[in-house]
Amino acid sequence: MCGIIGYIGTRPATPILIGGLKRLEYRGYDSAGLALLEPKSILTYRSVGKVAHLVEKVRLNLTPERQNELTVGIAHTRWATHGAPTEANAHPHYDKSRRICVVHNGIIENYRTIREKLQAKGHKFDSDTDTEALSRLIGECYRGDLRKAVINALRQIEGAYGIAVLCADEPDKMVVARKGSPLVIGIGEGECLVASDPSALVAHTQRVIYLDDGDVAVITPDLVDIRNLDDEPIERNVSELGLDVGAVEKGGYEHFMLKEIFEQPETVRNALRGRIDLKEGTAILSGMNATPAELAEIARIIVVGCGTSLHAGMVGEFAFEDVAGISTEVQQAAEFRYRNPIVDRNDMVIAISQSGETADTLAAIRKAKEKGTKVFGLVNVVGSAIAREAGRGVFIHAGPEISVASTKAFTGQVAVLLLMALKLGRTRRLSNEDSLKLAQEINRLPELVEYVLKQNDAIAKVAERMAQSDHAFFLGRGPMHPVALEGALKLKEISYVHAEGYHAAEMKHGPIALLTPGVPVVVLANHSPVLDKVWSNAEECKARGARIIAVVTEGEPKTDLADDTIVLPPCSPLVATIPAAVALQLLAYHVARLRGCSIDQPRNLAKSVTVE
Ligand code: AGP
Repeated sequence: MCGIIGYIGTRPATPILIGGLKRLEYRGYDSAGLALLEPKSILTYRSVGKVAHLVEKVRLNLTPERQNELTVGIAHTRWATHGAPTEANAHPHYDKSRRICVVHNGIIENYRTIREKLQAKGHKFDSDTDTEALSRLIGECYRGDLRKAVINALRQIEGAYGIAVLCADEPDKMVVARKGSPLVIGIGEGECLVASDPSALVAHTQRVIYLDDGDVAVITPDLVDIRNLDDEPIERNVSELGLDVGAVEKGGYEHFMLKEIFEQPETVRNALRGRIDLKEGTAILSGMNATPAELAEIARIIVVGCGTSLHAGMVGEFAFEDVAGISTEVQQAAEFRYRNPIVDRNDMVIAISQSGETADTLAAIRKAKEKGTKVFGLVNVVGSAIAREAGRGVFIHAGPEISVASTKAFTGQVAVLLLMALKLGRTRRLSNEDSLKLAQEINRLPELVEYVLKQNDAIAKVAERMAQSDHAFFLGRGPMHPVALEGALKLKEISYVHAEGYHAAEMKHGPIALLTPGVPVVVLANHSPVLDKVWSNAEECKARGARIIAVVTEGEPKTDLADDTIVLPPCSPLVATIPAAVALQLLAYHVARLRGCSIDQPRNLAKSVTVE
């Protein structure tokens, strides 16, 4: 949920830390702070609100000449979990001696017990945070060796952490550690960095080490020494990031979200690249690392995820059942992890996550592994915890998704789910003809997305007529039901409109009572076997004064039911979920833009929910 960046080397640390915080701000942005090592002491600056406020505070307090002398530092942008977003609660946090300071991402679950023990020893806490319990505990454990102090402290805590620690008495090093929250080390020439995610490192290096849970690393300008919590040396590979600065810049778009919406022909192409066999009508998903026999014995699929990833999984349910004939259920990851799920060794559990760090999804995958079933990841961020925990699965290759509202990840996830269904279907009941047809249609997805993007201006006009309403409904049937849920989520999370997604048949069972004249109802009325039923549901809403925004398939007969129309390219209902989702992404984006909302960093949200 929070962003961490650290630097140790020979260049001035301050601009590097600030630049890193700006890249990480999407992870959480209610307060920020930084610490700089100076001979025999630590300087800290903290501020409430966005990183710009911290930049101003540093400018007022630290001359450029002084900044040039300080080459070791850590910094943090916060999404509050314990304690309101105040300056006192902003990171970094000190130990009692104020010679050690810590930035932390995660939740320390036993922090109250630790806090009480330390208070009994005379500690006077400066903040309400769980992090300060850790920083003070590290100080209590310090006997002249920072790594040992950090290890001894971490062995006493329960919960999740990604931390960077500085000590005024050991100015030549930084200690970092992770468990449950992402942390990646960047290796430069005579310098090292650490960050919550690679987007903060791309400007400085392509060489990275992804830390794993339980790793504790001492980093100096020329060395990375990784140990486990038993202080035993650990080997971790150096990977190539394969990202460029452009990938994390806005590229001329007003918002990251718009950039990422318009990247989707390319990102869907990336998700499909090298994975469609148009001759055999199947999919090549080597990352699944599963034998045909293993795939053939799958009796049931369970998909777990949260938010947008959960909605993608719901589309996947239709794909697996209708294409592959495999019984599938979708569970919210937090439910799966706590309900003692019924999982059989012949089940296939698929964990879907853009960030690969969502706490509930990570816990769900661990629960599935405990049950001894097959686990696969469907993830965007390479090196993420869920990707490594699953050990096998499929990356969607959507590139960094910076905007808090997920767009290209959703379409990449659904595209891969279609491929998985095609592959599994090919080993089961899918006929040669049907599989070739589906493979060809999936292969056309980039152009189907392009078709919708070309309607951006028309969709912006529809948004103008929608932006004044504080309520909205999204209705769909079949695989368009999860698309309706996703469209509602997009609208609510970036424009703060109270939007509800419903199964179209569900409206008359209660929600229709909410309809008042003029309320916009978006109806996914694409070509499908139940299209007439969808129009009937739209009619029921229209009769109550609703304003119908119909998402239709090109070539379908026109109807005066629709007050506004968005047109999809002709394709099957399952494949149409992706262009339909793009249309609703654009609709939500323009409504939020017209309502003057903070689109890339909506209030109360953060990009990766690494807490429960
Ligand atoms: C999507 O727009 C939301 N920001 C959120 O629901 C997100 O999809 C959810 O938190 C899951 O994240 P993940 O895909 O990284 O696991």
